[in-house]
Amino acid sequence: MRTQVVIIGGGPSGLLLSQLLLKAGVETIVLERKTREYVLARIRAGILEQGMVNLLREADVADRLDREGFVHDGTLIASDNDTFRIDFAKSVGVPVVVYGQTEVTRDLYDAREATGGETVFEADDVCLHDVKSDAPYVTFRKDGRDQRIDCDYIAGCDGFHGVSRETIPKDVRQEFEKVYPFGWLGVLSETPPVDDELIYANSERGFALCSMRNANLSRYYVQCPLTDRVEDWSDDAFWEELKRRIPEKAADTLITGPTIEKSIAPLRSFVTEPMQWGRLFLCGDAAHIVPPTGAKGLNTAASDVHYLYHALKDHYLDNSDKGIETYSTRALARVWKAERFSWWMTNLLHRFPEQSGFDRRMQQADLAFLRDNEAAQQAMAENYVGLPY
Ligand code: APR
Ligand code: PHB
Repeated sequence: MRTQVVIIGGGPSGLLLSQLLLKAGVETIVLERKTREYVLARIRAGILEQGMVNLLREADVADRLDREGFVHDGTLIASDNDTFRIDFAKSVGVPVVVYGQTEVTRDLYDAREATGGETVFEADDVCLHDVKSDAPYVTFRKDGRDQRIDCDYIAGCDGFHGVSRETIPKDVRQEFEKVYPFGWLGVLSETPPVDDELIYANSERGFALCSMRNANLSRYYVQCPLTDRVEDWSDDAFWEELKRRIPEKAADTLITGPTIEKSIAPLRSFVTEPMQWGRLFLCGDAAHIVPPTGAKGLNTAASDVHYLYHALKDHYLDNSDKGIETYSTRALARVWKAERFSWWMTNLLHRFPEQSGFDRRMQQADLAFLRDNEAAQQAMAENYVGLPY
């Protein structure tokens, strides 16, 4: 087999890149390790920056998003019983859209199938070869049969546990990591959201977040020790803990119900440099991870896709390789700003086990400054809605 770009990974990064390239007339084959059903069963975050929305529109994959997404012009921040609002409209004039990543991925798969894009599911033992040459290729096994795809370029969109990042030699790669001393216990419930906007809460008992997917599907999180297991948390225990951490008014009006999903996720910040090696380009979680606090995971994958899509389009359509040569530098410049914001928001809103009295006062001063200072609110709003590509 031969194609122009092999995309490893059929998550949001790989699918969005493939759709954009297909529209530009660039041939791709997506190799996904799991089944479509498995990929679509993953529950992930649900905040889209305008940049991501624009890319989905450019890929002709935004019709359902435009119909069903919730446009949010602000978010609430609560600290103990003091709640204030970050007004995106007033501060930056740009909203975010609340629309589940699972739905984004579903829409991308539907579009790929409708446009005849080739996706190989259950592709085993994917290996990258000769990425430093002008003739890279990928091998994999499907239904017990070894296969090979020759190509011009490889996009490593295979997430944190994929094979692409490891293809870059250890002595070339520089990895930066911070592991946080707590996790997020998250639930989905078929109940109406507790508020029209998200509530990020820093309480004496720890962080909590009230989010949503639609008018009758809510997403809630509480910070929990890394030693906790999902089976330690009954629904009742979760709802009682959430009520202790969110503002009284929200706790009094919260509509609880049976959870339809419950999981614990660890929090980590991670970046690998460079994001390209020869004709291999890393994109999304394959190159970086953020703690979910700032909802930057999918949105930073989107900016990588933006840079890589334009680089490859310029190569094939305009015979210009400037984008290809500068992809890693350009992508990393925005990645590190998203990492900083996610780290800052995580430190602002969580209780750290070793937190000293002084650290707690610093956190309270940070929150008070954000509450009282327009410039601080503008800075947060600009980062939250998404810095420019
Ligand atoms: N071969 C083929 N496919 C692979 C391999 C492999 N060796 N390893 C992983 N994959 C697939 C996974 O099954 C997954 O479907 O690559 C895909 C990677 O998707 P994601 O992990 O979702 O990463 P990405 O597409 O970059 O999306 C980033 O997902 O994890 C969230 O918070 C993150 O919202 C962010 C978004
Ligand atoms: C979510 O809805 O899952 C969500 C929203 C905002 C975040 C993180 C997760 O910061």
